[in-house]
Amino acid sequence: MNTPVSDILVRNTSPEDFPAIMALSKAVYSFPPHWTERQLASHLEIFPMGQLVAIDSTTGTLVGMAASLIIRWDDYDLHGSWKDFTNHGMFTNHDPARGRTLYGGEVMVSPELQRRGVGSALYAARRRLVEDLKLPRIRAGSRLRGYHRYADRMSAEDYVVKVIRGELRGMTLAFQLKEGFRVLAVVSDYLPGDPESLGHVAVIEWINEQVATPGDYGSCDPKFDPKLSR
Ligand SMILES: CC(C)(COP(=O)(O)OP(=O)(O)OC[C@H]1O[C@@H](n2cnc3c(N)ncnc32)[C@H](O)[C@@H]1OP(=O)(O)O)[C@@H](O)C(=O)NCCC(=O)NCCS
Repeated sequence: MNTPVSDILVRNTSPEDFPAIMALSKAVYSFPPHWTERQLASHLEIFPMGQLVAIDSTTGTLVGMAASLIIRWDDYDLHGSWKDFTNHGMFTNHDPARGRTLYGGEVMVSPELQRRGVGSALYAARRRLVEDLKLPRIRAGSRLRGYHRYADRMSAEDYVVKVIRGELRGMTLAFQLKEGFRVLAVVSDYLPGDPESLGHVAVIEWINEQVATPGDYGSCDPKFDPKLSR
């Protein structure tokens, strides 16, 4: 990692953060859709505890954001899209009464501060939330950012295997693997319009071992098992 940002505060999002989050979304993603005030307000109304921002305390600047909701996994298709899992980014499908899976709808860090520990601080706060809520797992779609450079040579599944083996470096998925996630599957058309992933994501899972039972572990395609993939 580069020199860590020395004083990162992770706290719950407030409406005053919306302009900075919308600007961050435009700085991070060169393509639409970007977060709107309507979506961010919906997240806060529905699940305020699940909405996090990272602040550089020395400057007071918002440098990262993570947005989550709780879903009942069996209501969804493993191969569903971001729009399905987040109800078009509104999180109105949040279902804490029946759901046991924290779903990561977004995590992003200011481009000039990436690789300096901000994402890690956001994920630590997300894991604490899951532990506090006694949920057994986090799942999300991890963008295969950078796959566009390899798509003429290999399938998205082969790309993921290479990232898991450490044969392809510098990819977003490596961040989530480092954060303790494992890959369950690869899905196309999750984020249509993303020129860097060509719409592909890895469905990833982190298990809260404090409460998870064997049935909470998703079945993983053996080719994505780091122990078996060689
Ligand atoms: C993915 C993202 C949130 C990671 O945040 P970050 O602040 O850069 O990550 P951190 O600096 O906390 O990194 C944590 C660990 O993951 C590793 N890591 C982070 N990005 C990595 C990358 N691109 N390749 C390899 N490893 C990476 C770091 O090396 C670090 O490990 P270390 O502590 O052993 O050095 C950030 O890069 C980002 O905003 N990307 C663009 C938006 C995006 O694609 N979001 C993900 C949607 S699924």
